[in-house]
Amino acid sequence: MDKRTIGEAQKQALVARAREARQWAYAPYSRYAVGAALLSASGKIYDGVNIENAAYPVTICAERTAIFKAVSEGERDFEAMAVVTANGGAPCGMCRQALSEFGQDTLVIIAGPEGDIHREVTVAELLPGAFGPEHMK
Ligand code: THU
Repeated sequence: MDKRTIGEAQKQALVARAREARQWAYAPYSRYAVGAALLSASGKIYDGVNIENAAYPVTICAERTAIFKAVSEGERDFEAMAVVTANGGAPCGMCRQALSEFGQDTLVIIAGPEGDIHREVTVAELLPGAFGPEHMK
């Protein structure tokens, strides 16, 4: 499938939402705050942050928080996601898999703390050869 194309203004708006959300990250253990913003085909933006836990594995990443918020409100079709960290860190493997469930062509915009875009890639590029819904038929 083709890489989804969103306008420059929409891209900036998505990065801005991820930057804004990042202030709410609950990361007292790693001190690595992450903000994410997910644009659905319906035009709505769902944001998310990482939420850590004293029992470390309970932690959830910003990307999955945003995905789960969106899906729990009926969204399943996504155009793009912006992820903002202190240093342009990329989504972890678990978040790549979570994104992959809902489409290979979702654009992932990886940005730094000032909204500086480091990389723009599709889910397919982040997780080639993914295990997906088709394997569960
Ligand atoms: N983290 C995310 O929120 N997203 C990622 O894709 C990478 C890691 C969070 C999890 C944890 O709270 C902190 O960053 C350090 O790993």
